[in-house]
Amino acid sequence: VSDVEAAVDQVDAITDAPAPTTDGPTPAEPTAPIDLGLLPFTARLDATGRLLLGGLDVAGLADEFGTPLFVYDERHLRARCRDWARFLGGPGNVAYASKAFLCRAMARLIDEEGLALDVSTAGELHAALLAGFPAPRLIFHGNNKSYAELKRALEAGVGRIVVDSFDELVRLDGLGERGFGPARVLIRLNPGIDAGTHAHLTTAAEDSKFGFSVASGAAADACRWAHESQHLELVGLHAHIGSQIHDPASYSAACRVLAELAARLRAEHGAMLDELNLGGGLGVRYRAFDRPPMLNRFATSLREAAVKACEEAGVSPMPRIVVEPGRSIAATGGITLYRIGTIKEIPDVRTYVAVDGGMSDNIRTVAYGAAYEAFLPAQAGAARPLAVAVAGKHCEQGDVIVPDAHLPEAVAVGDVLCTPVTGAYGYAMASNYNKVPRPAVVFVSDGRARVVVRRESLDDLVRLDEE
Ligand SMILES: Cc1ncc(COP(=O)(O)O)c(C=O)c1O
Repeated sequence: VSDVEAAVDQVDAITDAPAPTTDGPTPAEPTAPIDLGLLPFTARLDATGRLLLGGLDVAGLADEFGTPLFVYDERHLRARCRDWARFLGGPGNVAYASKAFLCRAMARLIDEEGLALDVSTAGELHAALLAGFPAPRLIFHGNNKSYAELKRALEAGVGRIVVDSFDELVRLDGLGERGFGPARVLIRLNPGIDAGTHAHLTTAAEDSKFGFSVASGAAADACRWAHESQHLELVGLHAHIGSQIHDPASYSAACRVLAELAARLRAEHGAMLDELNLGGGLGVRYRAFDRPPMLNRFATSLREAAVKACEEAGVSPMPRIVVEPGRSIAATGGITLYRIGTIKEIPDVRTYVAVDGGMSDNIRTVAYGAAYEAFLPAQAGAARPLAVAVAGKHCEQGDVIVPDAHLPEAVAVGDVLCTPVTGAYGYAMASNYNKVPRPAVVFVSDGRARVVVRRESLDDLVRLDEE
């Protein structure tokens, strides 16, 4: 039994969460009760239709910890890590993209699951190291890493640096001359592929700030540089083609580009690459009728595409195939709870239900036109016939979290309102706009809730001000 098989057996034994239901659900009417498939795996309704998560009453969590509140289901997060690990041949081939959501507890959870961790700034690196995350399992990303950031990464002993520009190669060589390193690097390619997602989430069309263009020859030049530098060790190639992707076919094209370059580097320069990193990108269901592919099918088709591309290009032995999922691990594992403060009915126009957060804890609606559902956890089993817009408390007309939400008829001021699937790029993108303190974050598991990020206080909001 190989190490990988043993690890997968162990994972199978631990994973007791139900399989994710990411594709194939019957499209639900927006007025139907919330689809539990949009919620973390441990979501259940009690006999009165109240939502439980990790065995805890969700509306009760809002009473206990205040609102707005991010609540993560630890079992869900772990199960998603294990799902990815199972289909990629082991946890070491999966790097959680920490930009989706990172705090020290999250870094520790990822470490316990044996995954690698993708960090892309000195700040993410700092949080990971403070959490005790092993540096050799860190992958350092970023399209504009400073000299100081690269120095810190090399001092800490990060396992991989994904190089994004010639300026970065100059910096790494300079650091190597001063005794830092050797840097184990992957070259980030821009394979020139439109992944068919939102323009702000597409990263590999030819016009992109990320990576070295393959078409222009820059990628091959960068690889040659890294291979020939005495301070760098070229271990692989990387491509991340975008986020919230529904069609795995886009990855086949990326795999071909990676494999063809790997083959050329072998033939022309004797460079033997250990890794092909395909980045992240698997889309998730934000609404009941969204139909992204299931993780198992997506992951399997990624691996198959990579193997086929390597075989066709004559890359042998097969390099390790690595992925960097963020959203597909964290998004559905987290929900946001708000308290309704006012309900404003504008006859023949719209009803605004205003909550005590908004674009400062969820910028995705404003930034990407992202769509969510909303429901009341204390009436999670109830039909939602009332069409409303869920608005935030910020001084912007555009501060609407769910423009086309449906809620139960009996919604009232003081109720707790929940937006599901907010675990990725929610808290991570939070701001203090209007001097609104950032929410607390709670992890729930097996009937216990623990605060993993405390709520900001009003004093926190001015702690950097000079007198
Ligand atoms: C380099 C890289 N890897 C992985 C990810 C994670 O993508 P996702 O959350 O869509 O899985 C991103 C997201 O921007 C990224 O830039």
